[in-house]
Amino acid sequence: MYHIPIMRDRVIDALAVKPNGVYLDATLGGGGHTQAILDRGGRVAAIDRDDDAIEYCKAHVTGDVTYIKGQYENATQLLAERGITELDGAVMDLGVSSHQLDAPERGFSYMHDGALDMRMDVTQKFTAYDVVNGYKEERLVDIMRRYGEESFAPRIARAIVKRREVKPIERTGELAELIRGSVPYRKSGHPAKKTFQAIRIEVNGELKGLYDAICGIFGMIVRGGRLCVITFHSLEDRIVKAAFNEFATDCICPKRLPVCVCDHRAIGKTLGKQKPSSEELEQNSRSASATLRISEKL
Ligand SMILES: C[S@@+](CC[C@H](N)C(=O)[O-])C[C@H]1O[C@@H](n2cnc3c(N)ncnc32)[C@H](O)[C@@H]1O
Repeated sequence: MYHIPIMRDRVIDALAVKPNGVYLDATLGGGGHTQAILDRGGRVAAIDRDDDAIEYCKAHVTGDVTYIKGQYENATQLLAERGITELDGAVMDLGVSSHQLDAPERGFSYMHDGALDMRMDVTQKFTAYDVVNGYKEERLVDIMRRYGEESFAPRIARAIVKRREVKPIERTGELAELIRGSVPYRKSGHPAKKTFQAIRIEVNGELKGLYDAICGIFGMIVRGGRLCVITFHSLEDRIVKAAFNEFATDCICPKRLPVCVCDHRAIGKTLGKQKPSSEELEQNSRSASATLRISEKL
């Protein structure tokens, strides 16, 4: 299976798909959310930066889909170029697909040995190899702390730098073992998990344009339409929460100002946060860290 769609039914119920309505799936992956929208009679504009996802869905998804190879950071432009200026709703299911994670040659996983790669878009030049072998020690510490919330960042960075003085680190297995050997025993989770997450976020610039992307996509949604965003770690979730809070707030002036000068008016209503059910967790352990947030356009 390419990818098990997370909280699919809740997303589809939240979108309240209208027959012939136009929906954006900003993270197509294996097309699970897209297919569910199509099955309810909607039309889908589907974006993914990974050619492999687009090719897979062209062969497996059935219905009215406009496939777009690109980044959701450019969604408004990519859609406008295709004559789409309004959306009845949108879904963003952030991060990597199971297919990307599980394919050793994509180099995302500390569980499978492969070349250090981690690019979602394989036409991009910059890879995990460049980060691991090219970044200064302080910069490695910084990204591990910032994007991995890794408390042993200095120890891991030291071990990486020492190893690469002997020879470059080329494989995911080699990096995972090096990390295992440089941090104290951890009760939960693989010791390389946080570092791999940090490198992946850096390679793909995953957090950089997220806030603006959410604002741009929400801006295209019609009144009453909804944006559903699924996140997998607190760094992403904080960004989504901040954007949704801004949509739901009238005045966004700094608190020190005695009167409002921004004239900002709420454009959205937050419909709360949801976690996967125990049934879903049983069927798909990868859903454990997922959070779904929904905002409705006013
Ligand atoms: C978690 S998967 C989506 C799975 C999909 N909802 C399903 O049900 O199969 C995330 C997908 O988003 C893509 N992606 C991640 N960041 C992206 C970005 N900035 N722009 C476009 N696609 C992105 C990844 O390549 C991956 O295929």
